[in-house]
Amino acid sequence: MSTLATSFTDLFGHAPDACYAAPGRVNLIGEHTDYNEGYVLPFAIDKVASIGLKVHPAAAPRLLRLASTHENAVVEVDLGKLSAETITPWARYLAGVFWAFEQRGFMLPGADILLDSTVPLGAGLSSSAAIECAVALGINEALRLNLTREELVLLCQSAENNFVGAPTGILDQSASLLSTAEHALFLDCRTRETRQVHLPLSESGLQILVINTRVSHSHDSGGYKELVAACTTGASQLGVKALRDVPLTALPAAKETLAPDIYRRVAHIVTENQRVLETIELLDSAGPTAIGQLLTQSHASMRDDFGISCPELDLAVDAALAAGALGARMTGGGFGGSAIALVHTHDAETISARVLQEFAAAHFITPEIFTVLPGPGARAL
Ligand code: GLA
Repeated sequence: MSTLATSFTDLFGHAPDACYAAPGRVNLIGEHTDYNEGYVLPFAIDKVASIGLKVHPAAAPRLLRLASTHENAVVEVDLGKLSAETITPWARYLAGVFWAFEQRGFMLPGADILLDSTVPLGAGLSSSAAIECAVALGINEALRLNLTREELVLLCQSAENNFVGAPTGILDQSASLLSTAEHALFLDCRTRETRQVHLPLSESGLQILVINTRVSHSHDSGGYKELVAACTTGASQLGVKALRDVPLTALPAAKETLAPDIYRRVAHIVTENQRVLETIELLDSAGPTAIGQLLTQSHASMRDDFGISCPELDLAVDAALAAGALGARMTGGGFGGSAIALVHTHDAETISARVLQEFAAAHFITPEIFTVLPGPGARAL
């Protein structure tokens, strides 16, 4: 029995029916473009949220018993009275998925779930989407509900938007459910078309370093909502359905008409969409060594135009570049979390040491630095 299954049995007094895992993600490029109906290019990492799941008999009271290896208490939730306010925050991501299935018309039985996650919390690596996707995949498979993975993406997004209350896009859940090993996932967030883009990092002698600044952030608080609102305002003032519809060539005219803070947000989204397309072209034609500059340009755009970086993220990027990284940028929602750096494997140690040294000199919290490779999406264990 796996460690998770053993812990489950010790806690609940019976074995799980099955265990499932769903990964966190790194977004290679394409930041805040998802809710603007644009392009993203994430990949799944080898840090995962795992769950043990046992579904109760249909005739039993519809009760969820939710536990986490990081928490002490078992949280009990009556499926007949699901409301986020009455549930402790960490358990909302699990209960929210049950809520979203019920919204789709499924009447679910109760269940026992034990969560164990290795995705660092608040690090911009989609710890919450990983939990949602593990639960959604588990329910879908255990109860044979036959939803497609694409449907599960939308269901998990709905749990996060409408139950937890964070107005996020489909980037994180898509990465967790649709990724495949050794590939980045190109997603057109309007048409939902995907393409697996080969990302042969090891073969190219490269690694991606994640630098978790440990400055934590949360997307159900103000900052993220304001960004979504600014983008919506920009789109409506430019007379388009979404910023995806604004071509690069329209930016000079937009600068004349929009308020400066709205224009800067628009400029980031429009140029970022273009950078995603260029990154894919370069990956196809020249491989990952060639994309460094685009990553660094993306960071500058988020720092100077979109306004979502912070001193720790800027230092992580600058120090990595100064020590020889091919490119670096913050990844995820911003206001903290992690930066990524594309590095030659033989430079990884020197670059990590330089970042640690500069953080110490600046009296910032010591960052957590580790390498990631593009791994598989959510799966039964
Ligand atoms: C968070 C959200 C995503 C996306 C990113 C920024 O991770 O959950 O939907 O908007 O921020 O790219």
